[in-house]
Amino acid sequence: MAEVVLAVTGGIAAYKSIDVMRILQKRGHGVSVLLTPNAERFVTPGTFAALSGRPVGRSLFPHEEAGVVDYDHLDFARRADVVLVCPATANTLAEMAHGLAGGLVGTTLLAFDGPVLVAPAMNPRMLAHPATVANLRTLRGRGVTVIPPADGLLADGDVGAGRLADPVDVCDAVERALTSESAEGAEGTAAPSAHDLAGIRVVITAGGTQEPIDAVRFVGNRSSGKMGWAVAAEARHRGADVTVLACNVTLPRVPGITYVDTPTAADLHAATVAAMPSCDVLVMAAAVADFRPAGEAPGKIDKSGSDALELRLEKTPDILTEVTAGRRDGQVIVGFAAEHGQAGLERARAKRRRKGVDVLVHNDIARTGIGFGSDRNAITIIGPGDAEEAVAEASKAECARRIWNVVVPLARRG
Ligand code: CTP
Repeated sequence: MAEVVLAVTGGIAAYKSIDVMRILQKRGHGVSVLLTPNAERFVTPGTFAALSGRPVGRSLFPHEEAGVVDYDHLDFARRADVVLVCPATANTLAEMAHGLAGGLVGTTLLAFDGPVLVAPAMNPRMLAHPATVANLRTLRGRGVTVIPPADGLLADGDVGAGRLADPVDVCDAVERALTSESAEGAEGTAAPSAHDLAGIRVVITAGGTQEPIDAVRFVGNRSSGKMGWAVAAEARHRGADVTVLACNVTLPRVPGITYVDTPTAADLHAATVAAMPSCDVLVMAAAVADFRPAGEAPGKIDKSGSDALELRLEKTPDILTEVTAGRRDGQVIVGFAAEHGQAGLERARAKRRRKGVDVLVHNDIARTGIGFGSDRNAITIIGPGDAEEAVAEASKAECARRIWNVVVPLARRG
């Protein structure tokens, strides 16, 4: 079990670091906490001292008032196996990127040469600011693991990326960082999950298509694109060259990923066919309309003088089936299926074989509160030979990680 130094910095998400500490403790790790002065505006040292049973690091000069000068300001760096900054504010990320050591957190980080993770949490505009983007890039380049923030409603009323990642995901990332360290130490090789998609070209379709009825109306579906976005973020994190074919997704776009807008099934069809020759893995996470209005009415349909409107729908091309039939050797194809309940799982198994895809990810749409529009999902990953892995309710980031754990060996084999 490891010694974790948890550095809490000053944002409203600081209260969630209490959960992070408790989860790490339950998993058997020792946790020592550092608080910046601004963090203390949100959470108190007493809470962490009581729950960790250890002194909380608050200042470089804690004994100043008592006139004591022999304080060991590197004590936390010496005892740590891993340092987690959670939540990491924009200011702390900037300080880290510049190596500032004016406080106990900065000093500890500069004096520590093991794995460091940051879990950013801030307003979406601050997260998207070029300064923050550049600081995160600098930190990643130095080997710091950035735990991607989730999106949703923030405490300041804004909506977008910037919410602290799920505490369970944060703790999973800490344990992965520890595992990859020990793997490197033991065998001198990178851990399998570290950069295992480096050099692999991945195309991911995400969101839901909208099929025009007239100039202002469309036939659409409830897909938000969050699952496809999570699959893309994880692939990027693992070193892939990622292109997302985005069907009407309004989520924030991640630097380093290429996005192509494909609002209709016809746009998506054309873009997917065009992308196939230079792609190693295709993940069809988009909800593609199975039927579309046969011909878009010019202008806006006038409702006056009629009590009903008949729409004639025509079938769209099944993109997945078409590209799977024409794929070249070594290409890996992943499909998604939204189906109802246990019978749906049976249908999903048959669908994997019928469509000829390597992996089919089954979402049970009978479950409420997760899936469409939510940050969480429950999936079954059906792989070659009908090998199945069920992921009980988890964040979409965790679902994405589990999907890639199944797909990576297939992609590397190709
Ligand atoms: N899909 C596609 N083109 C379509 C419809 C769906 O490529 N016109 C893809 C989806 O992106 C998804 C998979 O097919 O990866 C399964 O979609 P789903 O709608 O659940 O399955 P159907 O194709 O409708 O299955 P079935 O043949 O059982 O009707």
